[in-house]
Amino acid sequence: MNKEKTFYVTTPIYYPSDRLHIGHAYTTVAADSITRFKKMKGFDTMFLTGSDEHGQKIERKAKQAGQEPEEYVDQIVKTFKELWQALGIEYDYFIRTTEDRHQKVVQKIFKKLYDNGDIYKGHYEGWYCTPDEAFWTDRQVGKEKLCPDCGRPVEWVEEESYFFKMGKYAQRLLDHIDQHPEFIQPESRRNEMINFIKQGLDDLSVSRTTFDWGVPVPIDNDHVIYVWIDALSNYITAIGYLTDQDNFKHYWPADIHLVGKDILRFHSIIWPIILMALDLPLPKQVFGHGWLLSETGKMSKSRGNVVDPIQLIEDFGIDPIRYYLLREVLFGTDGTYSTEALIQRINSDLANDLGNLLNRTVSMVEQYFAKVVPEPDQLKEVDQDLINTGLKTAKEVESYLSNLKFTHALESLWNFVRRSNKYIDQTEPWILGRDKDNNKDKEKRLKTVLYNLLEALRMIAVMLKPFMVKAPSEIGKQIGDQSIVENADWEDLSWGKLSSKIKVQKSEPIFPRIDIREYFNKKQKKEQEKTMTNENNNNSKDNLIDFETFQKLDLRVAEIIEAERIEDSNKLIKLQVKVADDNRQLVAGIAKDYQAEELVGKKIVIVYNLKPAEIFGVKSNGMILAASNDETLTLITPENPISSGSKVK
Ligand code: MSP
Repeated sequence: MNKEKTFYVTTPIYYPSDRLHIGHAYTTVAADSITRFKKMKGFDTMFLTGSDEHGQKIERKAKQAGQEPEEYVDQIVKTFKELWQALGIEYDYFIRTTEDRHQKVVQKIFKKLYDNGDIYKGHYEGWYCTPDEAFWTDRQVGKEKLCPDCGRPVEWVEEESYFFKMGKYAQRLLDHIDQHPEFIQPESRRNEMINFIKQGLDDLSVSRTTFDWGVPVPIDNDHVIYVWIDALSNYITAIGYLTDQDNFKHYWPADIHLVGKDILRFHSIIWPIILMALDLPLPKQVFGHGWLLSETGKMSKSRGNVVDPIQLIEDFGIDPIRYYLLREVLFGTDGTYSTEALIQRINSDLANDLGNLLNRTVSMVEQYFAKVVPEPDQLKEVDQDLINTGLKTAKEVESYLSNLKFTHALESLWNFVRRSNKYIDQTEPWILGRDKDNNKDKEKRLKTVLYNLLEALRMIAVMLKPFMVKAPSEIGKQIGDQSIVENADWEDLSWGKLSSKIKVQKSEPIFPRIDIREYFNKKQKKEQEKTMTNENNNNSKDNLIDFETFQKLDLRVAEIIEAERIEDSNKLIKLQVKVADDNRQLVAGIAKDYQAEELVGKKIVIVYNLKPAEIFGVKSNGMILAASNDETLTLITPENPISSGSKVK
């Protein structure tokens, strides 16, 4: 395979400290989409994602969970893989930084840098942000002692440490950025990075001694390698650096590292400098996209505003979620996730524009030509315009996608969807259909119109393949040829590929409309049910009952009419009691504390709705209430006179 035709894209490797949310899915869906597109363009693609499992943060989280780090990360990494599968993410390799091959190569990288004189031993005193695993200077954390990136409190660290001579490479990096404007994207972020470098790069502390959960420094077992050196190296260890050089050379340098803006600094400063020190080429591009915010700000577990992608997929399906992520937020800027906006997109773009186009077209072919795809005849201007728009769209989508402009690409594609709907209004096939049986020209015209619509749908389905995973095949199936869509490459975006004579196959709408009100009502009801179940579960844990349970008890005041010791038992007394008009017999274990005679006439409290039982061969219908401790037992009686049968509440 020609090296020119390889494409290597990476997402960040995620910390298994929590479950992933929709913000994380944003990057991975984008990487998946660009990879699918490159495959359709005939590239030999490599798509890497994974998990960043070492470091102080993970070690602490595991401890909090009462687990060993290995056990802790294993279980979370499993949920990562499940999420990627649910989102149709087709990565080629999932790297875990705990895997043996990676760890060994990270040690070799460290050793190489040490041997070259780029790493030396020293002493670190400064601030550390554990959630970000980042070092900061006094000036950077300010008076408040907060991480300048995430705003959380930093910790003071004083320890022996190895240092990496970053400053030595600063000018070379600036020159590289200058000569390769595409290296850091988008442009606004490039300037930020240039300013950062120009302020001067301190030597970077690249080892820690105060915890163990990391790759040991090969020349000094008291140290573990700084987690960012370990993590960034994944991009080359995964493809065989120092273990499978052929594969490594085939894919390296990477075409794109896709990262969030918060970690752009690590990728566009530390990482290139490591590569320079290793004498390796730099990645062609580092793209720092914006954040997907929730309506109440940045998503974080502690704020309780994270959006769970698995729940969204369950509610709306995989393709609408992928579409929304790529369509709604300009890749590069921040955007806000909102369920209303998602439903809006589903209803207007997917159900209305695309769903109706498919539905109307296939229904007409079914109705007018007994499902058979007709053969087109002569083209009119309006047909030519539709065709030209389709071909132009293919070019536009290609160009936008090549530049990671997902939103623009989908906008362009939807212009074509809408153009196709307009074509139906312009050509009025229902009028042609009315007259087709006695007018050959109209029949021919109708055939041409419907063929063009089916062909437009085929083009749309093929162009959707980078973005969606199920809908393209489904559209293919309905227009009569699933495999023509499934097997299509980008070069199949020429007009007239769909064969006539095959049969369309109408089925359920591919994107059902969502009733926004009903959706939110249902959601609310579910939430309430969940809270109630949680409350019930919590209550049983704490031995608490709720009021409803208490109300099930029917407690009544009863008057003792007769009392008699049960023979052969030194505890039991048989009582006849009156509860309003109801006379009852019950057995009570009070003989040690009460004489039978003294009980008669007393008003007591009984459980009136207890299931009858037989005690010592005697029927008992109810139970008296008494308070007892180790020494004594006393009956519960009303403080003031009250009629028997009164309810105790
Ligand atoms: N482990 C490091 C990356 C090491 S790469 C060699 C890390 N992990 S992370 O799990 O905290 O974040 C991974 C990525 O998710 C980052 O690119 C981050 O920007 C991105 N996102 C986290 N929350 C996000 C949003 N709300 N929106 C978009 N991206 C988000 O950093």
